[in-house]
Amino acid sequence: MSKKPILVTGGAGFIGSNFILDWIANHDSPVINLDKLTYAGNLRNLSSLKNDPRHTFVKGDINDLALVEKLLNHYKPYAIINFAAESHVDRSIHGPRDFIQTNINGTFQLLSAARAYWEGLDGEDKAAFRFLHISTDEVYGSLGPNDPPFTETTSYAPNSPYSASKAASDHLVRAFYHTYGLPTLTSNCSNNYGPYQFPEKLIPLIVLNALNRKPLPVYGDGLNVRDWLYVGDHCNALRLILSKGKAGVVYNIGGCSERTNIEVVRAICAILDELKPSSGVTPYASLITFIKDRPGHDRRYAIDARKIERELGWKPAERFETGIRKTVQWYLDNMEWVKNVASGEYQKWLDINYSDRGTS
Ligand code: NAD
Ligand code: TYD
Repeated sequence: MSKKPILVTGGAGFIGSNFILDWIANHDSPVINLDKLTYAGNLRNLSSLKNDPRHTFVKGDINDLALVEKLLNHYKPYAIINFAAESHVDRSIHGPRDFIQTNINGTFQLLSAARAYWEGLDGEDKAAFRFLHISTDEVYGSLGPNDPPFTETTSYAPNSPYSASKAASDHLVRAFYHTYGLPTLTSNCSNNYGPYQFPEKLIPLIVLNALNRKPLPVYGDGLNVRDWLYVGDHCNALRLILSKGKAGVVYNIGGCSERTNIEVVRAICAILDELKPSSGVTPYASLITFIKDRPGHDRRYAIDARKIERELGWKPAERFETGIRKTVQWYLDNMEWVKNVASGEYQKWLDINYSDRGTS
């Protein structure tokens, strides 16, 4: 391995694993993947890289300063891309502690290790180093129906323990750039969807429940809006940010695809009616069930992605209609993967989150 590697944290999760697969397909520099393998981490996502020397997996926690320092000094990466996080809003409502521990303390430890490592570099290596922090549009809070979309200068107003913990991590990243000069980059993206997403999130949950002829739970009135970003488009944006983004800069990444939740659920049902008509449920939309709302449920997120388009020439390639079809098809083609993630701990989560919601 002559090329310098990158260090990816949380690379066994949904976006991280898509990013690694995409990176290996497009680059010859290797990837060191540090992941704690929580319930959301799944090495099966990366099984195609099993014998590929460009991917090195290390099981560990971003809070483990000694381990992170050891990895940095041993592998000498030219960039760190931080995906590691607790990422599900509903879980943050049931138990926020892990979110503070990983998203805030963990990011702090990672930044501290990165700073020490970067300060020890010289010349070109020091100038080229980047710390790319992956964040969310949820830090900006909730929009009304006629509000303009979030820009990079929208004030932070997080509403859930998850978004508050991500906001805190973004502030730490900003502070390490301004105080110590650590060359950081931050991206705030909207809701991702695509292959390998853990089925606690809306889109895979609806696909799986529909295939199992279970109720399709829609919170509240189903009119909350998200701006859906296909994960492959997100990965392209991140590669561009890493190669061309200037230190200290923030980019918003969105899919230009605002949809209400009920539109999303109906779109999935229509695709399944077409692709899987013989399951005994017709139409799938007959399974839709409105249930008690999430506490503090943000009404609308929307991203203004003109800065990354203007400065780096990025635009999403997928429209929601093309991306959702690909995604549903992927789940149908990968039922072994689905079976594997949808057992044990996952069933316990369904009981915790859905048993006391009733119908609305
Ligand atoms: P995910 O929950 O699927 O994966 C998170 C990964 O991080 C898992 O592999 C997990 O094992 C690992 N991890 C958790 N705690 C860790 C720790 N302490 N040390 C090392 N590894 C740890 O999340 P995702 O959907 O892939 O999201 C990745 C990043 O993107 C997160 O930072 C999230 O906040 C952000 N984001 C996600 C979305 C989305 O729609 N999924 C939208 C905006 C932003
Ligand atoms: P989710 O995938 O959890 O992402 P986030 O909360 O980070 O946006 O949820 C997307 C939207 O779908 C959100 O408005 C909550 C809603 N939702 C449901 O209506 N039913 C469900 O079972 C889930 C998991 C989410």
